[in-house]
Amino acid sequence: MNNLNVISLFDGISCGQVALKRENLPIENYYASEIDRYAIQVTQKNFPLTIQVGDVAKVTYSNGTLYTETGEYYIGDVDLLIGGSPCQSFTFAGKREGMVTDENIEITTLEQYLKLKSEGFAFKGQSYLFWEYVRLLNEINPTYFLLENVKMQKFWQDVITKTLGIEPLRFNSKLLSAQRRDRLYWTNINNGDIELPDDLGLLLKDVVREEDNDKYHLSKIHHQAFLKSYKWTPNCLDEKSKPLLASYYKQPPHCPYIPCEQSESGYRMLSPVECERLQTLPDNYTEGISKTQRYKCIGNGWTVDVIAYILSYLNK
Ligand SMILES: C[S@@+](CC[C@H](N)C(=O)[O-])C[C@H]1O[C@@H](n2cnc3c(N)ncnc32)[C@H](O)[C@@H]1O
Repeated sequence: MNNLNVISLFDGISCGQVALKRENLPIENYYASEIDRYAIQVTQKNFPLTIQVGDVAKVTYSNGTLYTETGEYYIGDVDLLIGGSPCQSFTFAGKREGMVTDENIEITTLEQYLKLKSEGFAFKGQSYLFWEYVRLLNEINPTYFLLENVKMQKFWQDVITKTLGIEPLRFNSKLLSAQRRDRLYWTNINNGDIELPDDLGLLLKDVVREEDNDKYHLSKIHHQAFLKSYKWTPNCLDEKSKPLLASYYKQPPHCPYIPCEQSESGYRMLSPVECERLQTLPDNYTEGISKTQRYKCIGNGWTVDVIAYILSYLNK
């Protein structure tokens, strides 16, 4: 495999880069578009050679050159374009408005998006940024692409599928980690023909650290709120974890919670390291930013081993 020229949009904490490394896929250059300073800090700590290019809406590519907020880069052909565009307006946990303008005009084609954008329309939420991914996919025409998003209403899933011209792979992170995380992956790697792996059988107890039992306790007040919110039952250690959310730091009803004898309420949160393990990140990968920012970044991220599994088809 030749060294890969990679562009990662909505790069977050660069879980894509961890996955490439885990699969021993050699990287020539890795360009990351991300605007969250804490996520960028984590990426640069772990991968100092990453070239950060800023806001995706200000990135363009023509004749082998990437024009960005942070400079112009001659990069030639691109082997791989990856990205998980923001999902808040798609997720069943959110408002589910999809990709719409402030006036609720539904955006279903790139042409329509570019026209609305040029006419100065504003967009609701962040999920519309999918169209920036599509714009760059067209401009760059990479050999391979991968787009990740949450399970969403069929209408929007069909819009994405029609636009990308390939059916998504539904891949639950629970197969390769201790966390349930049901996601869709659109990719042309191996023409999208990717067979799901067998369940490794990982459970919450496999990520729990004894030393964290003295910390991350749930306060009694939170515990009461927690008990009242009937939907959010605690996890037992012999289960797969509930999905990690970027809002986990807010505590109940955001989950998961595990039993903990040392805690007055009987439960505690997972520590950032345990959350990293749920995403199959290396321990302490996000160390160096506040605990709140670590929970946010990890909850926003990809499950590394799922991405590594999909990318492993590049070697086949
Ligand atoms: C769902 S997260 C993706 C996380 C990433 N896949 C990872 O492994 O960490 C979406 C990311 O898009 C970023 N984002 C939002 N608006 C952006 C923009 N205009 N340009 C670049 N990134 C943006 C957010 O800061 C967030 O980190």
